[in-house]
Amino acid sequence: MRPPLTAAGGELDDTHPGPAVRLDQPARDAELRPRSGGESLPPRGRLLTEAAQIVCLQRFAHHELLAVELFAWALLTWPDMPLLLRRGMLATLADEQRHLGMYLGRLTAHGSHLGEAPLSDYLWRHVPALRDHPAGPASFLAAMGLTFEQANLDFTLAYGEGFRAGGDDDTVSVLARVHQDEIGHVRMAWRWLRRLRGQNTDPVAIYEECVPLPLGAGRAKGHPFDTVSRRSAGLPEELIEHVRRAGGGPGRKKARWCERQSNGALLWANLGAEDEALEVPAQARAAANRVAGLWLLLHGSASKLAGPGREEWQPPRWPETLGPCPDGPVWDWLEDKGRVVAWLPTERARRDVTDADLPWAGAAPDPLLGDKGWIARHTRRAGLLPESLTSMIRVLTPEELRRRHTGDRLLAEIRGWPKWTGGRAILKPRHGSSGRGRIPLEPDGPIPSGRGLERMARRGGAVLEPWLKRILDLSVQVYLERDGTTRILGTTRQLLTPAGIWLGNAGELSAEGHSSSGSRWDDAIRQAASTAAGWLARREYSGPFGVDAFSYIGGSGSEELRPLVEINPRFTTGMLALGLLERARNAGLQASAGAWAFLASLPARPGRAEEGVRLFHLDQPGVPRPPVLVLADDVDALYRLLLRWGVVAGSV
Ligand SMILES: [Fe+2]
Ligand SMILES: [Fe+2]
Repeated sequence: MRPPLTAAGGELDDTHPGPAVRLDQPARDAELRPRSGGESLPPRGRLLTEAAQIVCLQRFAHHELLAVELFAWALLTWPDMPLLLRRGMLATLADEQRHLGMYLGRLTAHGSHLGEAPLSDYLWRHVPALRDHPAGPASFLAAMGLTFEQANLDFTLAYGEGFRAGGDDDTVSVLARVHQDEIGHVRMAWRWLRRLRGQNTDPVAIYEECVPLPLGAGRAKGHPFDTVSRRSAGLPEELIEHVRRAGGGPGRKKARWCERQSNGALLWANLGAEDEALEVPAQARAAANRVAGLWLLLHGSASKLAGPGREEWQPPRWPETLGPCPDGPVWDWLEDKGRVVAWLPTERARRDVTDADLPWAGAAPDPLLGDKGWIARHTRRAGLLPESLTSMIRVLTPEELRRRHTGDRLLAEIRGWPKWTGGRAILKPRHGSSGRGRIPLEPDGPIPSGRGLERMARRGGAVLEPWLKRILDLSVQVYLERDGTTRILGTTRQLLTPAGIWLGNAGELSAEGHSSSGSRWDDAIRQAASTAAGWLARREYSGPFGVDAFSYIGGSGSEELRPLVEINPRFTTGMLALGLLERARNAGLQASAGAWAFLASLPARPGRAEEGVRLFHLDQPGVPRPPVLVLADDVDALYRLLLRWGVVAGSV
């Protein structure tokens, strides 16, 4: 709280800023220590009670504290920034200290103090993405000045009105003061951003290149949108318009899709929303709806699907093939207390949920966990990458993707790979899944277009991997407890098309009901999943996650394992399959050891029944090829059927 001045009150000497200091967390008193989890802001229309005003002031004070810390963090992280920029940031830091002081004063006046309610570490979670961002300090300016502070231009005005209605005029003047200062902060950020990235004259492109995922224009505003203060901050009209039109900001139509309830779970079925910038294609949406319907079957009978677009969507019936509808969830760790569980815990989802005034369950969204670059680095360090692949798999930064002739260079690179790989490769976006946005590369194939590479650059970079001849696709499904203990729900064999699209899962079943992949790799993939659990626990993640693995023909001509290809820190389709299997077992449909498979849809021509195999259609209204659960007396009977259905290839 002490202003950054010399003892005599003069400016600090910053001509020798010293080496960079790496910090991941703020040093704070115990009471102020941030923890994972959400804070929610009462809507501004509800500031009539003192309790709501206090909640609001705590949140605002904490934002100022975070601003102080993050400006200090930036000064320590990038000592090489231009001296004038450093000076501007230090002056801003001092402003943020004053803002903090004013809010603390308002809290005292209301008989409260900061730290009385838990503080979220949400902003600090963006720190690794900022530090790793190739735009360096420019990414900080885009995130801090042009996203958070720009949004605060709207918030300070809107909440000023709220506090006025609530009769707290002193807070109204504090908000007005902060609003005025914020205009200056946004102005400084934009000026320097243009100076640092001047080669690109399009303001929207400058902002979009520099703002780190998952932040973006949709987060740079509140409701109502104030154009006047943005103009006085010197923001160009194109950028103002870009932010005004961006989706995802608050102020959308108030949700009709759900109401509070105290039983069951509210399932936020945002499947396929890894990349919020991409529209989900209609076909994928239909598949996602089907998965969402099955997800619901694993929860307590009072559960509902929630989320935008769900109003007109008919929820599935309980499939009678699985016996009478059970009351409770299939696993005790599944939410059953009326809170919202998101398939993908994204920041956007959490914002939509809290905007709708609903309670959020589960871990706080952590953008780093969806980053394939993060996983690739950890895998390599932990020795979970087969030696023969280490030189081939690598992370490409947005800058490298944008460099001239990158396409040619990539083809030259894969042509130099060992013969046994076949030289085929895949470029995966660092953020995103479900196979969307990938670029396949072949040694004699076309040069990837600059536009495709640019799209990837905008998604934070890419990971280059050989496209190997896969033999078995495997998965481990885990539940990670809050205290770090792991419960392995089962391992499965994944049934995928040659292009890698999910068809279902299969496995062997012990008499106690445990599923395993039935391959010789089971121990190795469980081990890898436990290691991954450690990484997630260190990020304070708890909840379900799945790990994908595969075996392939290696350099020696024999089968090798890649034990950790992807980590999905969320509910997964593999879990869905295991959960439905468990439902069937609870209904007494399979009491002994055997084998099982789950297919998202029945083949077009299923043909005659196989001996020793029973099919359970999980009918949903209006679905011509329903999902199907297959229970078999033994593995051979199961795979005879799956072979005939063309779901697995000849090598079983
Ligand atoms: Fe501030
Ligand atoms: Fe500020």
